Amino acid sequence: MKKLHWLVRFLFGPVPVYFSALAILIVLTNAQYFGLVGVGVAPRAAKLASSTPVVSVMKYCDIFRGEWVPDKEAPYYNHKTCPHIQEHQNCLKYGRPDLGFLKWRWRPSGCDLPRFDPLQFLQFARGKSLAFVGDSLARNHMQSLLCLLSQVAYPKDISANPTTQNKVYHYRAYNFTISMFWSPFLVRAREPAEDGPAHTGHWSLYLDEPDESWVSQLHRFDYVLVSAANWFSRPSLFYEKRRLIGCSFCSRQYGVPDLTLYYSQRRAWRVALRAINDVERLRGRVIVRMLSPMSHFENGTWDQGGDCKRTEPLRANQTQMEGRDLHFYNAQMEEYRAAAKAAQEKGRRLMLMDATAAMLMRPDGHPSRYGHWANEKVQLYNDCIHWCLPGPIDIWNDMLFQMLLAE
Ligand SMILES: *[C@@H]1O[C@H](CO)[C@@H](O)[C@H](O)[C@H]1NC(C)=O
Ligand SMILES: *[C@@H]1O[C@H](CO)[C@@H](O)[C@H](O)[C@H]1NC(C)=O
Ligand SMILES: *[C@@H]1O[C@H](CO)[C@@H](O)[C@H](O)[C@H]1NC(C)=O
Repeated sequence: MKKLHWLVRFLFGPVPVYFSALAILIVLTNAQYFGLVGVGVAPRAAKLASSTPVVSVMKYCDIFRGEWVPDKEAPYYNHKTCPHIQEHQNCLKYGRPDLGFLKWRWRPSGCDLPRFDPLQFLQFARGKSLAFVGDSLARNHMQSLLCLLSQVAYPKDISANPTTQNKVYHYRAYNFTISMFWSPFLVRAREPAEDGPAHTGHWSLYLDEPDESWVSQLHRFDYVLVSAANWFSRPSLFYEKRRLIGCSFCSRQYGVPDLTLYYSQRRAWRVALRAINDVERLRGRVIVRMLSPMSHFENGTWDQGGDCKRTEPLRANQTQMEGRDLHFYNAQMEEYRAAAKAAQEKGRRLMLMDATAAMLMRPDGHPSRYGHWANEKVQLYNDCIHWCLPGPIDIWNDMLFQMLLAE
């Protein structure tokens, strides 16, 4: 009642009407200062010099080698301003106490990596389309992009089928589309079934058949980011020419050898990259994102109480890629190089987003147990695989924009 009284006096009281109108106009045109962007997030959109020509630093700098350096600026967004954060990566909402992990930025050896400028990005992306292909880490990356862009615009969810993991977001004012294709193995895969040879919980991977759900759509996109790694750690049966030829995490019961997850990871990448090169009508650019490290569990494996409790990044000389990360990385790199060469012979270009080394230094950036309420009844493992949002993988979009500009 008191509020209404104030409003009536403000609008129709002694203050002249045109004066109030002016005040309202000022509020509307400066909406981002008055709550649209939200408390705790710098209203950076206002400061953006969107008309300055943008040149990629990749012309003279390797953006993938460097160190994390302390950063004083507040994150671009938070869980109150961005509605696109996956629950299990919403570390601020679930009360992660140490926020020091947000106070670092990636500093390449030879240059500054420009901060992601959402307005510039959207102007660049006008009339274009971008697809993410992969697993929940591809989605993690996409959601970071949606959050960064949420300083300027919110997209409309125009997904054809809201019950699947495939998503389509459209930015109407920019006619820009972001899509997500769920394809954690990149090749055709069948879930463990109750009957059949997979009754022991093994996935069936058809290692010579690319997953047509995304390959058949590639020609529609200007940019496609492909990534995969983690799901090869699941017990699987391997098929080639529709015949069972091997398996991973298996016993002799199948009568085929355990070829290990290294076999399936490499085969899947090879087949996926060949399929990309074989798309006749491809008009866009395909970017391969190298794996996000799987090795950040300490004091135990993921199912043995392992956790990631660090609160600060490591330095480059404190990290070394090893074990599964190293095997996967080398295989992805070799398959990428072979495919990039084949693409070149066709007059095309594949691009590499070599983000693994930077992320290896960020064991502090995962949800750990702050991806859900502490008292949640269901047993959930500590998550040292995905990344908090906001968090370190926001730099994947700093990198991505520089890569797109370097075209
Ligand atoms: C929007 O962009 C798509 C390409 O992504 C294009 O085919 C379409 O014509 C554009 N629509 C408008 C209204 O500009
Ligand atoms: C691992 O265990 C040691 C000793 O108990 C402890 O100091 C350290 O913080 C633990 N590290 C993590 C990541 O939990
Ligand atoms: C790692 O590098 C930093 C600076 O770059 C240096 O101060 C430190 O001594 C190095 N540590 C090791 C173990 O080499």
